[in-house]
Amino acid sequence: MAAPAGCLCLSSALLLIWAGICSPVCVEVPSETEAVQGTHMKLLCISCMKREEVSASTVVEWFYKTEGGKDELIYEYRKVHHEFPSRFSGRLQWNGSKDMQDVSITVLNVTLNDSGIYTCNVTREFDFEIHRPLFTSSRLIHLTVVEEAGEDFTSVISEIMMYILLVFLTLWLLIEMVYCYRKVSKAEETVQENATDYLAIPSENKENCAVPVEE
Ligand SMILES: *[C@@H]1O[C@H](CO)[C@@H](O)[C@H](O)[C@H]1NC(C)=O
Ligand SMILES: *[C@@H]1O[C@H](CO)[C@@H](O)[C@H](O)[C@H]1NC(C)=O
Ligand SMILES: *[C@@H]1O[C@H](CO)[C@@H](O)[C@H](O)[C@H]1NC(C)=O
Ligand SMILES: *[C@@H]1O[C@H](CO)[C@@H](O)[C@H](O)[C@H]1NC(C)=O
Repeated sequence: MAAPAGCLCLSSALLLIWAGICSPVCVEVPSETEAVQGTHMKLLCISCMKREEVSASTVVEWFYKTEGGKDELIYEYRKVHHEFPSRFSGRLQWNGSKDMQDVSITVLNVTLNDSGIYTCNVTREFDFEIHRPLFTSSRLIHLTVVEEAGEDFTSVISEIMMYILLVFLTLWLLIEMVYCYRKVSKAEETVQENATDYLAIPSENKENCAVPVEE
């Protein structure tokens, strides 16, 4: 599909793999903000845990609102997963990690009506201490659902640039070859006019241009 988007995807995948190998490293990658109708959309929400939060239990809330509407709780994790009755009923799936650093959900079979603002609120609660400090983080995802996957403008530009570069390189190569060929054949002419000079030319000079020369 789109080349820069693919690049971006690959580099974030590499980043994730790298983060996975060096496991204490957690990278808060932002979510994609465009979905194609009828596909599954992963709403990425990564909330990296700080050292002091490791013993906390995590509460995750996902809200949805239309542009200018009110936040509606659609999904919650509080020891158990709970999907609230909404227009997403049956279409939400937990897609996070066990350690609760990745608390993503996936919306199945996205419709055009699913465009809007998704909020992912993560709270780390300390259950056992007398005063319970809370750590919260909040992330907004402005989701746009499109009817079809379209090539975005930047990818078209970069594709055009690639072809221009290719044509330019080919032309340059041709010019270089013609120039070299001419040089060689000119040298050959003078050589044929003056055979004694030819013998005087050191042998490495004859092989200056590595272009096959026809007689
Ligand atoms: C979770 O996300 C991955 C990609 O990150 C995807 O391949 C997988 O199908 C998702 N799982 C569910 C249950 O949607
Ligand atoms: C996705 O939703 C559309 C419209 O709501 C429905 O017609 C279609 O069957 C659904 N597809 C799947 C795979 O659930
Ligand atoms: C989208 O929402 C509008 C109004 O809320 C409703 O009339 C329409 O049927 C919905 N479309 C789909 C595909 O759910
Ligand atoms: C999510 O958390 C932020 C920051 O703690 C808070 O301002 C916001 O009201 C919360 N959103 C909802 C819908 O509760």
